[in-house]
Amino acid sequence: MKVSRRNWLRTALYGTPLSGFSYGGLVEKNVLSVNRVDIPVAVERSGLHGLKVGLMSDFHHDDFGNETLIRRAVSVLNKENVDVVLLAGDYISDQTAAMESLCGVLSELRPKLGSFGVLGNHDGWHFDESIPRLLEHAGVRLLINDSVEFDEFAVAGLDSYWAGHPDMVRALRSVPSEKPVLLGWHEPDPFDYYAENNVALQVSGHTHGGQICAPVYGPVLLPRYGKNYPFGHYQKHNRSLYVTRGMGTLDIPARFLCAPELAILTMRDFSISSPS
Ligand SMILES: [Fe+2]
Repeated sequence: MKVSRRNWLRTALYGTPLSGFSYGGLVEKNVLSVNRVDIPVAVERSGLHGLKVGLMSDFHHDDFGNETLIRRAVSVLNKENVDVVLLAGDYISDQTAAMESLCGVLSELRPKLGSFGVLGNHDGWHFDESIPRLLEHAGVRLLINDSVEFDEFAVAGLDSYWAGHPDMVRALRSVPSEKPVLLGWHEPDPFDYYAENNVALQVSGHTHGGQICAPVYGPVLLPRYGKNYPFGHYQKHNRSLYVTRGMGTLDIPARFLCAPELAILTMRDFSISSPS
């Protein structure tokens, strides 16, 4: 009998060392890791210099969601005075009823310019009108192949690669070609699928950083369209990709060597010296 990697993982976690499972479920899953990362921007995009972006993803709020953890992240973002909050999708696993309590917490976000979200594959598979309605009510603008312009940059969002119909041309149709774009796209691997354009930074989630990691080996299991860029910052030519490990858990209520992450990304043109 063939045993899938996912079933093997479940068996290993539930059937062997109880202490490891208890640690992953009772401790690490509830520890918020705040990662402050500088994202380099090219000189021609120096208008982005200093822009501070808060990034959260993969709440899977109906799947052992932790409201206290999310509330803590919202509080950190508000104290940090971020310019923009981006939410990279998978608000739920399959039950949209959980959107109400999640959006209750997200409504406390107070970024200077706005909060924006994209759909994840799970949101797409189980989509109903409550997802955009409750996000909008919480002050989060959902971008599905759409964009919003500010003076120095634009924020764009694409539909889920796995569950939807992403359309980059449509998303960027009203954005001038010289204006740098912050792009939300749930799955990270499509970072390789588009040619050079004005995207300065793609933010993604989806991978959960593996959720369960082995020492030295790293992520034990990665999802489709999340295998090439598991977590962290990647650079290709003058484009960056940041993949967050996300906030929640899927399938098993545990994380191991892979704590939930709130990312605070600061755009930096390193040719501009900071005031001393
Ligand atoms: Fe996902």
